[in-house]
Amino acid sequence: MRMEEPPLLIVSNRGPMRFETLADGSHTAKRGGGGLVTALSALTTQRPLTWVASALSDDDAEVAAEGVYEDGNLRLSLVAHDREEYDRYYNVFANPTLWFIHHYLWGLAMEPDVDRNIRLAWDAGYLPVNERFAEAVAAEIEESADDSPVVMVHDYQLFMVPRGVRERAPRARIQHFTHIPWPMPDYWRILPDDIRRAIHESLLNCDIVGLHTDRYVRAFLHCCNELTDGEVDFATRTVRFQGRDVQVRAYPISVDPAEFERLAASDEVREEEASVVLARPEKMILRVDRTDPSKNVVRGLRAYDLFLSQHPEWRGRVTMLALLDPSRPEIPEYAEYVGAIQRAVREVNDRWYMTGMWTPVDMRISDNFPQAVAAYKHYDVLLVNAIFDGMNLVAKEAPLVNQRDGVLILSENAGSHQELSPWALCVNPFDIQAQADAIYQALTMHATERHERIEGLRAQVREHDISRWIDTQLEDLAALRPVKA
Ligand code: G6P
Repeated sequence: MRMEEPPLLIVSNRGPMRFETLADGSHTAKRGGGGLVTALSALTTQRPLTWVASALSDDDAEVAAEGVYEDGNLRLSLVAHDREEYDRYYNVFANPTLWFIHHYLWGLAMEPDVDRNIRLAWDAGYLPVNERFAEAVAAEIEESADDSPVVMVHDYQLFMVPRGVRERAPRARIQHFTHIPWPMPDYWRILPDDIRRAIHESLLNCDIVGLHTDRYVRAFLHCCNELTDGEVDFATRTVRFQGRDVQVRAYPISVDPAEFERLAASDEVREEEASVVLARPEKMILRVDRTDPSKNVVRGLRAYDLFLSQHPEWRGRVTMLALLDPSRPEIPEYAEYVGAIQRAVREVNDRWYMTGMWTPVDMRISDNFPQAVAAYKHYDVLLVNAIFDGMNLVAKEAPLVNQRDGVLILSENAGSHQELSPWALCVNPFDIQAQADAIYQALTMHATERHERIEGLRAQVREHDISRWIDTQLEDLAALRPVKA
């Protein structure tokens, strides 16, 4: 560790590893997936890191009961929760309530009712779970010799942690990073004043509030202006709150290109390639998503259906491969969405049924990352049509390893649109005719243009990779003067 570097604490609901109990009662650690874990775990090669995360299973809880888990430079403090509290926090307040607000998913004419259930999920779920996190962070700060550590808190599950940490460790340098979009103030008005104010004012206990894009930064500043007592300076992107200045900054998350190149060449990915290539007649349209209502899978299917009806010459020559990772099955809105996807797939496949081998839509619902990377290599068109999406890393990962100069169709409401739009076919995610037209344009695009576009995407992602995302934030945090008590 370089001498000037303060201790680094990462706080997130889903941690970098999960545990399994072996027959002899000992525990084995399995690394978790996802860009954040990969990126931050890589930091442990350079400096000590303390990570505070939820114990998500009984096995995790056993490890939590044994104390802090240490492995080389990583110190992992797992926070065990009361089951019911966690259920209210995760399955009611964070998902779907907050998630639906951030992605503008509520229809509003009929839902949501802000009822006793939501109030209880806030009072007896979200608040106590966040409080327990703040306590665990404070305990770690006490452990370390430095009372001005850098604390990076991640995502919408933990909005109340900055306030709890500031109360307990006034000199900490706190950053919160939100990985999902930030909606405009009127949509926050779904929540009662005390709740929406508490969330925004907790975040104003940070030194830096991080978001993916300039659009989210502007929305956050508008929210602080309308929903809190903070004084907003739109020009410098700072908010003055309770005598302190809070910086609001855009740091677009990215991926590790070398890791994807390694993965693409790995045996586990190679083993999946045959089943992917088998699905492709002449051309393949690919989508890779969690089964989340924000991903817009159903409209993507309707757009494809429209495309097939308007371009009969493509019937039998193209397949849509939809690789869907099951997500949050305990939440009724999510379970219903899986049903809606299945019905839409059935409709398209029934309508265009022809004798022979052609399946218009090949949908696979499973958690199979190697298969997704195998498909990244073989698509001709990549469809990312999210309703709203914080960043969407599929749009950054897949072009890196694609071997067919595949064309990216990208929602104008995905965070990655800010960086990737010059080389993508950009679509309004609600406009199914525009998406059908983009599918046609992508499938018939000249080879030279396809090549130029994918090279443009690759150059952008390589230049703005995950280490840049982390380094910029750490530099900004290091530049903060230690907070005076
Ligand atoms: C999104 C969120 C993350 C979350 C992930 C998986 O990417 O921004 O905070 O961890 O989805 O969702 P889950 O509910 O399974 O953790």
